[in-house]
Amino acid sequence: MYGGESAKIYHAQHTARGKDYRAEAEVVAGEIRKRCPEAGSVLDVACGTGGHLGAFQDLIGHVEGVDLSEPMLAIARAGHPDVPLHLGDMRSFDLGRTFDAVTCLFASIGYVASEAELHQAVRCLAGHVVPGGVVVVEPWWFPETYLDRWVSGDVVEHEGTTIARVAHTVREGDASVMDVHYLLASAASGVRHVHEVHRAMLFTAAQYEAAFREAGLEPEHVPGVQSGRGLFVGVTPPSSASAAEFKSGHPGSGTAKNQTCLGERS
Ligand SMILES: C[S@@+](CC[C@H](N)C(=O)[O-])C[C@H]1O[C@@H](n2cnc3c(N)ncnc32)[C@H](O)[C@@H]1O
Repeated sequence: MYGGESAKIYHAQHTARGKDYRAEAEVVAGEIRKRCPEAGSVLDVACGTGGHLGAFQDLIGHVEGVDLSEPMLAIARAGHPDVPLHLGDMRSFDLGRTFDAVTCLFASIGYVASEAELHQAVRCLAGHVVPGGVVVVEPWWFPETYLDRWVSGDVVEHEGTTIARVAHTVREGDASVMDVHYLLASAASGVRHVHEVHRAMLFTAAQYEAAFREAGLEPEHVPGVQSGRGLFVGVTPPSSASAAEFKSGHPGSGTAKNQTCLGERS
């Protein structure tokens, strides 16, 4: 889906369009800090070409990334040689360590193929968070906010290549299927055509929330932000030992948050 050529086009497109990764990361870091003020580490799952990584380094501190596509990671590595980046599948990866926060942004979660896989992925994200840490997921559109038969298009120029993109999205059952056509023109190569198909699940808010709850996270939907799709944010229980105290509102020593969410851990 994000092979070598698609990764390069993705990066060129979003760079030339000026996607504001910094502003998005500020929103996400703000939601993390509201729930875990001392957060010092973040794992960005489905990090792609790494657009959010630099901003997370500034805003949170230690950052790592995971993605299923090696060509996407190669571009992220070139831009962020100091960030540990791992090839992995959001439904099954295991880094053997936890972070204060785990994010999955730009609707990447929509690439799972079923509700069962949504549950697997959210469990996997939650499994990489410290007790009292935060999971942030940017959903794809909900069935009621998705616009069927949507046509989009633009033309951008990046490093000597002009890229024209048109896309048409149709609903197939509980998924959207986006047909994307690119024309790439450069002095050296002339004009080439590239075709991609992106299938993304149209989960309901209730389905996202159920996946969060099943993974032990209490979900909150933050509406309006990130292109209007909002964010789902959930906090893991402070720790198995202190969860009962936390639930009863009587943490033993200090608040649940400062017992558990303290910064980078290995
Ligand atoms: C729309 S891009 C978003 C990339 C990045 N988060 C951004 O904001 O630019 C979707 C990304 O999800 C990744 N992806 C899709 N399915 C995945 C999976 N099962 N596990 C990990 N990454 C996946 C793709 O390789 C791609 O990099």
